[in-house]
Amino acid sequence: MDHPRTKSLISKAFSVAQEAALEAGHVLFSHLRSHFQISKKGRINLVTEMDLEAEKIIVDRIRRDFPDHEILAEEQGTQPGSDPYKWIIDPLDGTTNYAHGYRFFCVSIALEVEGQIVFGTVYDPVTEELFSAKRGEGASLNGQPIHVSNKEELINSLLCTGFSYDEEEIRRNLKLFDRVILRSRAVRRDGSAALDLCYIACGRFDGFWELSLHPWDRAAGQLIVEEASGQVTALNGSPCTIYDAEILASNGKIHASMVELLRS
Ligand code: IPD
Ligand code: CA
Ligand code: CA
Repeated sequence: MDHPRTKSLISKAFSVAQEAALEAGHVLFSHLRSHFQISKKGRINLVTEMDLEAEKIIVDRIRRDFPDHEILAEEQGTQPGSDPYKWIIDPLDGTTNYAHGYRFFCVSIALEVEGQIVFGTVYDPVTEELFSAKRGEGASLNGQPIHVSNKEELINSLLCTGFSYDEEEIRRNLKLFDRVILRSRAVRRDGSAALDLCYIACGRFDGFWELSLHPWDRAAGQLIVEEASGQVTALNGSPCTIYDAEILASNGKIHASMVELLRS
């Protein structure tokens, strides 16, 4: 990965990802509250015409420069490629919010090279905030370096969680929610895991957990948290990858307390 040709490919890809996130984000924003089709993938799991439109914009943009790369995109699934490069895309994270005109959603794009996420970018078109990170180079918000918070006590911490679309998983997380809300300053449930992670990275939230994520929900956000000096593990504190369902992300300082609380 240190080879100059690989490095320059990654730099080029990083620019393409940011461009694609901005382009798709602007289209999503301009159609917010317009008439678009909404279908159900499950009992409460929605997909809109705009998820598909945003994904097409991103995939077309990537394909222009990198026709051989593998792509894992939420709506189209896996498109195999011949290179060790794999793009991981959530074209609209926060679809339920978007469908209801609740302004908390984003576009999330990451690149994995030989099994390692090398960059991630998350764009919120409502606030025009572009969160990005390149492995080993720190995390930024609209070009300015960001860092996790320095809260040390759960009782002074603002936490966040998310609920999947699966009834059993919702019940399982309600038990944890019940426990955590009584021991922290407050717990939010905003409905976009990728943005929740970016909010940890820039210190707005101090901790976040969820039980059932997909790689596209977390690939970019996870690296952004790590590069902002935060910590990301499984709920029990053990190492995790973007292919695991569970996630616990924090500023690092409250991590052990969160592990203890979520375990007990
Ligand atoms: C969902 C959001 C939500 C999280 C769910 C995800 P989608 O993604 O990130 O916050 O709680 O687990 O599936 O469906 O809006 O792309
Ligand atoms: Ca998602
Ligand atoms: Ca999505």
